[in-house]
Amino acid sequence: MEGVTVRTMDIEKAAGLLRAGGLVAFPTETVYGLGANAEDAAAVSRTFQAKGRPPNHPLIVHLAGAHQLDDWVADVPETARLLAERFWPGPLTLVLPRSPRVPLEATGGLETVAVRVPDHPVALALLSAFGGGITAPSANRFGSVSPTTAEHVHTELGDRVDLILDGGPSDVGVESTIVDLTGPTPAILRPGGVTREDLEAALGHPLAVPATSSVRVPGQHPSHYAPRARVVLVAADDIPAEADRAREAGHRVGVLLPPSLAPETVTAQAVRPVPASTAAYARGLYGFLRELDHSGCDLILASLPGEEGLGLAIANRLRRAAGPRPSSAPGHHAR
Ligand code: TXA
Ligand code: MG
Repeated sequence: MEGVTVRTMDIEKAAGLLRAGGLVAFPTETVYGLGANAEDAAAVSRTFQAKGRPPNHPLIVHLAGAHQLDDWVADVPETARLLAERFWPGPLTLVLPRSPRVPLEATGGLETVAVRVPDHPVALALLSAFGGGITAPSANRFGSVSPTTAEHVHTELGDRVDLILDGGPSDVGVESTIVDLTGPTPAILRPGGVTREDLEAALGHPLAVPATSSVRVPGQHPSHYAPRARVVLVAADDIPAEADRAREAGHRVGVLLPPSLAPETVTAQAVRPVPASTAAYARGLYGFLRELDHSGCDLILASLPGEEGLGLAIANRLRRAAGPRPSSAPGHHAR
C-alpha cells in the first residue's frame, strides 16, 4: 500500500455507488474483487455480465467482521467461529448454509454461501462504510488471470466497472483458501492464502484437499487463471531442453524459471526467474504470467513448486492455467 492513498471521500463515493446498484472494484490482500451489493440481485447479476462468467458460479460475500456471520449464515457451527476467530480478517473463505438474506443470484442457486472478511484496510473501510455484505469475484474476465493491481483491473474490465479503488499491489497474490463446513468434516475446496498446515493446526486434524494435487490428468482441470500464452508444465530439470525443442518448433517461449536453474541455462524469448520464497512467488505469480504474455510469448514453460505451505496454492493455479482450453475460453490466444 506504500504510496497509495485512498481518501475517505473515495470510500464514501464507492459505498454510494454500491447502494445505487453499481459495481466497484476494490483491493483485498489476495486479489482485487469486483464488488456489488450482495442483497441487490440485479447488481449481483451485472457482476456476471461484466466478467463474462456463467451465472451458476457462486460468489463470495465479503463482510466487515466475524460479528456479521449470523446475519448471512443460517446456522453457524462452532468450527466456523473457531476458524473465523483464528484467521479473519484474512485469506480464508468459509462455505456455510445461507441465510434468507443472501439472494440465490449470489450463490448460483445453492443453499450454501461463501463468506470471508478480507485483510486490507481499503476493503475493510469500504465494508464498514457500506454496512452490508459485498459480493466480489476476482475482478478479471472469466477464465483469465486474477488482478493483483488496480491497473490489471482496468486492463481486464475497463468501463464495465463504475469505480476502481486503488490500494496498491495485493500482498498475498493468490485467492483465499475455501473451506467447506457444510459436510460431515471440513474440506478444502480451493487451496489459497491460508495454508493447509495452518488450518490443520487450528482444527487439530488433517484436511482433505482437492484431487488436483495428484498427477495431472488431461480433461480434469479446465483452464482457469490462464494467461493468453499456452502454459506447459515440465520438470524443472527438463526446462532448458524443452525450451530448445519448443523454440525449434517455432514457438516464442516464455519461462517461469525455478530457483534451482540459473538463467543462462535457458534460451528463450522471455525468462522470469521466480522467487525462492513461496510467499514472494505467490505475490508475484499473476503479474509474472501477465508480464510473459506482454513479452509476446505464445508458450510458457513452468514447473510445479513443492506443495507445502503456499506452494499448494501456486501449484493448483499453475495446473489450472495449464488445463485444456475450450476454443472459446477467454484465456485462449484466439480471443
Ligand atoms: O481471494 C478471494 O477469494 C477473491 C477476493 C476478491 O476475495 N475472490 C475470489 O472470488 O476468488 P471468485 O469468484 O473468483 O472465486 C470464488 C470461488 C469460486 O470458485 C466459487 O465456485 C467458490 O468460490 N464458491 C463460492 N460460493 C460457493 C459455495 N456456496 N459453495 C462452494 N463454492 C463456492
Ligand atoms: Mg476468480
